[in-house]
Amino acid sequence: MPVPALLLILLALLATALGLAARRGGWGVLVRREVENRQALAAARVQVREEGNRMLDLSPEQLQQVLREQGYFLDRLQTQRLWVYLRQGKPVGIRGEPGIGKSLLPEALAKGLGFGFIDMACHSHLEAEEIGISWNGFKQIVDAQAYRGSGPPPDLYTLEYLTPTPLLQSLLADRPTVVRVDEVDKLNEHTTNFFLRYLDRKELVVHNMSGGTRTLRASAPLYIFLTSNEYKKLDPAFMRRTVWLDLTFPDEGVLAEILRHGAGVPLDFAARVARIVHQVRQLNLEKKPSIAEALEWCRALVDVAGGQITPQSVDLTIGFLAKWPEDVAMVKEALRRWYDTFHKAG
Ligand SMILES: Nc1ncnc2c1ncn2[C@@H]1O[C@H](COP(=O)(O)OP(=O)(O)OP(=O)(O)O)[C@@H](O)[C@H]1O
Ligand SMILES: [Mg+2]
Repeated sequence: MPVPALLLILLALLATALGLAARRGGWGVLVRREVENRQALAAARVQVREEGNRMLDLSPEQLQQVLREQGYFLDRLQTQRLWVYLRQGKPVGIRGEPGIGKSLLPEALAKGLGFGFIDMACHSHLEAEEIGISWNGFKQIVDAQAYRGSGPPPDLYTLEYLTPTPLLQSLLADRPTVVRVDEVDKLNEHTTNFFLRYLDRKELVVHNMSGGTRTLRASAPLYIFLTSNEYKKLDPAFMRRTVWLDLTFPDEGVLAEILRHGAGVPLDFAARVARIVHQVRQLNLEKKPSIAEALEWCRALVDVAGGQITPQSVDLTIGFLAKWPEDVAMVKEALRRWYDTFHKAG
């Protein structure tokens, strides 16, 4: 259909809609509705911001600086995303290749903000009772046996008799606390399902408590992080309760900063290593070196060759850059070629 005809149809539709609105209540109604909408949105914004400030009273720039002071470098966009997620109190999932900084991020945040830190390493045999609610049967028996019949018998179903599992500790924490659920994709289905309520409402239900069933809720702000290597696809119910941050390999400048800080080397040397690692990552490797490997390689180069990048020092340190035999051959070959080109040019 030609554009002018389409425009005419659109205008006619708009005119009809406006005509209908005008006939129902006139222009005044439309304008009033728009004003009310704007006022309601402004009020909602104030409320959302107040709630956000209660959760995390920092600007994104301050958050970036807090992480940086802990030696953790996150770019502006990712920091802004993290900031939004944290202010909404949502559990934050972190994805990305091995060695990209998934596990370190929550730890750096907790240290930087002086928050408590609770760590939970997941594996397929981890059961819900081990992380959530379970009675400490041993303590109950010991205390029951210790009772000699004078006075009222001990109440064996109070908080004191619950095993201090990571999630229970997080709810009982009396200061803001970061909870790191590391490698959540390794959890079995039963434990994953159990997690949903905790993720959703930051609460756990205790059955058999004296006085009946009790729901324990977090008393201090909780910042829940989950990391995943995508070993297994998480189910949609789980995904709904989390927001995800995809960490990607940093650009050369940021990588150089990480190396400078992490290995204590001068920026020039860090920049050279960062450039080479970036080039190596362009190769068709089975396992590309990530931030962790770049840092390890940088340290090893300083250790064995005083920071000289030569075919000999590369040969000695190749294990940090390449993990599979085919990768080793490919990286060595490429580095030798670059080295020769560079020296011929020089
Ligand atoms: N953004 C970063 N800033 C500074 N150092 C970093 C960063 N990312 C990674 N590192 C370095 O890499 C190391 C490995 O990071 P981390 O253990 O968080 O990786 P990971 O993504 O959890 O890996 P995996 O999937 O193997 O568990 C860190 O100890 C740190 O030295
Ligand atoms: Mg990790």
